[in-house]
Amino acid sequence: MTTDNTSSSSTGEGLRDLASITPPTIFQELQKGVLGQSTSLRYTSVAVYKHTTGKVPGNILLIGNSGTGKTTIMNNIQRMYHEVDEYRPFRAMTIINANLLVDAERLEFQPARLLTAVEQRARALVSEQPTAEELVATMERATICIDEIDKMSSIVAGKPNAIGVVLQQGLLTLMEGEVVSHRTHVWEDGVERETVLSVDTRQMMFICGGAFEGLYDQVYLRVIKPGSGEKLTSEAIQTADGQVRIESRFALSDFLKPEDLFEYGMVPQFMARFDDVVLLRDLDARVLKEILLKSVDSPFLRSKRYFDVLGIDLEIDDVAAGMIAEEAAKSTRTGARALRTVFGRIVNRLEFDPWNFEGLEDGAEGRRRLLISTEMVRRSIAGRKS
Ligand SMILES: Nc1ncnc2c1ncn2[C@@H]1O[C@H](COP(=O)(O)OP(=O)(O)OP(=O)(O)O)[C@@H](O)[C@H]1O
Ligand SMILES: [Mg+2]
Repeated sequence: MTTDNTSSSSTGEGLRDLASITPPTIFQELQKGVLGQSTSLRYTSVAVYKHTTGKVPGNILLIGNSGTGKTTIMNNIQRMYHEVDEYRPFRAMTIINANLLVDAERLEFQPARLLTAVEQRARALVSEQPTAEELVATMERATICIDEIDKMSSIVAGKPNAIGVVLQQGLLTLMEGEVVSHRTHVWEDGVERETVLSVDTRQMMFICGGAFEGLYDQVYLRVIKPGSGEKLTSEAIQTADGQVRIESRFALSDFLKPEDLFEYGMVPQFMARFDDVVLLRDLDARVLKEILLKSVDSPFLRSKRYFDVLGIDLEIDDVAAGMIAEEAAKSTRTGARALRTVFGRIVNRLEFDPWNFEGLEDGAEGRRRLLISTEMVRRSIAGRKS
């Protein structure tokens, strides 16, 4: 754990040099909470490394279907900043929705909303009565996550969307590096006074994310259009009855070009501010099972922590976990969120009153043991269908 000193320097006693916390180390840290997205996490780790070593900007755009882990990646960067002592100076991280950054009526970009959020984070980190310098130093190293960036496209339903253009223009200026005036209050010589801070955004890290619904179809249609010059990759698939079938495979990552994003409504100059466009992949049942059993914030592990308090060890049968994952994989539009729903149906009743549950067994050292069995999962899934 960190000691609560007020210094914003990273060269405190016993702390590693930031350059020595390399992308593979960052990757390992993030993987505790983000599973099945190794390619995306590699890009993300490099971007965080660029940011924390401070030489080059590390801005990324995350694109992926709902429930594949965009917000989870952002949350895990935040978790890492808090768990790793050396990252103390970078803890002023803010996750904000893109639509909050524009005044829709006046069509104005509102960086003040962003800076106020960053300032709040920074205040929680530095001393109780921060000076202007302390505050500015922490704010300037912030990581800013802007979610649902795709809703701020410059084209919506085929029509120009002025708010989207305003937002993207505003953001791109911040990402390029701008000195923004920010009104607040600070302490000087024992008195609190109002002041205007000059915050340079050059060293901030920007992570934007969005589901970009419709992008998949848009690119697919471009690729299969006669004369597109593109070719889908084919794969020989062996079916259960021993037949071999040729299937063509379309993965967005194989074909996405910058022009596709421009056509979607992203302003080219805005896109140019990102070091990488990172595509998250859809999660299959195999990955969902791993998430259920291993990710730090999985519904199973959360529930396990709850039962732990009651003196009960919650366990799950491996096949049962696989069945939950397969059921969740059927809800293609919600990604890993479906795990919570499917698992919740099984466990909610148990969480309410485990003591009268017939499956509760005596375990070691006076504790009790509760196993989520295949039968329980089967009954829960069947119960939904009947
Ligand atoms: N790759 C992943 N690894 C671990 N957990 C995940 C992953 N993807 C999603 N989850 C879990 O599923 C839930 C939803 O994921 P998340 O909020 O990251 O989705 P999202 O990609 O931001 O979707 P949306 O576009 O709907 O905002 C989270 O609670 C998270 O725990
Ligand atoms: Mg999200």
